[in-house]
Amino acid sequence: MMSASTSTILWCRSGSEFSRVAADHVAGLLARKPGAVIALPTGQTPLGLYAELVERAAAKRLSVASARYFNLDDYLGLSADHPLSYARFLRDRFLIPAGVAEEHIRLLQGDAVEIEAECGDYEAAIAAAGGLDLAILGLGTNGHIAFNEPGSDWSAHTHVVALSQETRATHVAQTQGKFVIPEYGITVGIATIVAAREILLLVVGGAKARALAALRGGIPDSKWPVTALLTHRNLTVLAEAELQSCSVMRG
Ligand code: GLP
Repeated sequence: MMSASTSTILWCRSGSEFSRVAADHVAGLLARKPGAVIALPTGQTPLGLYAELVERAAAKRLSVASARYFNLDDYLGLSADHPLSYARFLRDRFLIPAGVAEEHIRLLQGDAVEIEAECGDYEAAIAAAGGLDLAILGLGTNGHIAFNEPGSDWSAHTHVVALSQETRATHVAQTQGKFVIPEYGITVGIATIVAAREILLLVVGGAKARALAALRGGIPDSKWPVTALLTHRNLTVLAEAELQSCSVMRG
């Protein structure tokens, strides 16, 4: 159902079709605005998108170099080169292979000594860049967006969060227990996300069915942070086709 009249849901087969449609969306923005300001997600879901963007950039079919990039979240206490850090992930998987210059990149510093100051500086950097044109989001199994967990304050900007048991357990499984998953994260807030002029939400995997059902139910509910997006005027949900038959949560 999804109430906001300007929101769109696109169903795609996971894999190359999904990556292509997501990359086309980003390419459309870059065609209109080469210097766009974009917030990037981490996780398994956007890997195909990043590979596709890198491939198009390498083939000179797309220029991603004039845009400016921020990230959505990171673990607290990890340096930018820690193998688990989201900063490292984004540099390795997208920013460096796509040829984005360091001066176009501002990522959260999870190991900042003055973490409150870092949160404020980060928001100031986004504002100085002209605000986010596009926030690309993944979705947590519990409905989190970035690291805004269930029950988060929807008026919050960048802040430190305690990660939920569910989120930490998912990440332990994803890293095959090789790392101790930090208890805290640093994340842009929901207010930061919904201030983006455009949002692209990527949803892949059966584990996301309940969170997607909550969004499709169309009722804002703080237990499902993703439903904060329902009020946004330019939301595109790109979801894998297998999830189309999943139930829509009502009430
Ligand atoms: C993590 C990140 C989110 C990400 C989500 C989904 O918790 N903090 O930013 O969107 O997981 O990840 P995945 O795409 O691997 O399912």
